[in-house]
Amino acid sequence: MHFIKNYRILTKQPGGWFKPIHVPFTRMSLSRSFHGSNFVNSLSVKDGLPMRLLLLGSPGSGKGTQSSRIQKKFNIPVISSGDILRQNIARGTKIGEIAAKEIERGAYVPDDIMIELITKELQNKQQNWLLDGFPRTINQAVALDDRLAMTDRSLNLIINLSVPEEVILQRIMDRWVHVPSGRVYNLSYNPPKINGIDDITGEQLTKRSDDNPETFKIRLQKHKALTELLLEYYAKRNILVTFCGRTSDEIYPQIERELLKRFGSGNLG
Ligand code: AP5
Ligand code: MG
Repeated sequence: MHFIKNYRILTKQPGGWFKPIHVPFTRMSLSRSFHGSNFVNSLSVKDGLPMRLLLLGSPGSGKGTQSSRIQKKFNIPVISSGDILRQNIARGTKIGEIAAKEIERGAYVPDDIMIELITKELQNKQQNWLLDGFPRTINQAVALDDRLAMTDRSLNLIINLSVPEEVILQRIMDRWVHVPSGRVYNLSYNPPKINGIDDITGEQLTKRSDDNPETFKIRLQKHKALTELLLEYYAKRNILVTFCGRTSDEIYPQIERELLKRFGSGNLG
């Protein structure tokens, strides 16, 4: 169902009041029934709504894999906190020095550093983007919300990947990465054309310092301890969708369908 030109919708105001506003969407369709407290989220607004996405999921759940597929299909830039940290490590920056120590032992880089790093990245981005790996703590989530609210561009979809733990460990042991681009390979799932070499640039692939069974166990535990809080924080907002599956191939079509339903084909790459 399409409605051309301006459409009048109700939106929830901070004080709890609902006020009609005019929204210049080109197309809009109703895809969810009108239950729940947030009227706006029950609408699927197409072609023209910027994609401001967050990808959540345990280590090895396929965030990097899914984000590169979304990036390719919808032509949106990805901001991956892990990739940015690894690039800092490779360049030998001050942040890289701090990050190297924390990453190697499966710990998190301090909130203040991460908030500064990622919000700076976001300043350079236009309307559409996908965040992978940030925020990871409530402090980071609150700081991100505050910064985004200042420019009236809050998150509009949170994609949570749920993959059984038993399938994840083997993936990690087989993972190779191209640090400058963040491209991810897996020896059995998506191997490079030439062993140890990035398909696009011909540069060397490397193993991540945190991809070993001991560190991975710590990363998983840390993730479990913090993720529930984060999911609870976002669940209240009604823009959180969880996708379950054993492989990224099983999950990706579900994500793509949801994105097309919510954002239409206007962003297709
Ligand atoms: P980060 O780089 O974000 O790592 P992570 O969250 O632990 O997640 P991974 O990158 O390990 O997994 P992924 O979900 O991206 O999976 P992938 O697609 O590669 O962070 C690293 C560290 O940086 C953190 O531990 C922390 O120290 C620090 N950090 C980052 N952000 C921070 C923040 N906000 N605050 C504080 N510290 C922060 O897939 C995994 C493997 O599976 C790949 O080999 C892939 O090819 C393979 N694969 C994918 N799909 C399939 C399939 N269907 N079948 C088989 N294999 C598959
Ligand atoms: Mg990743």
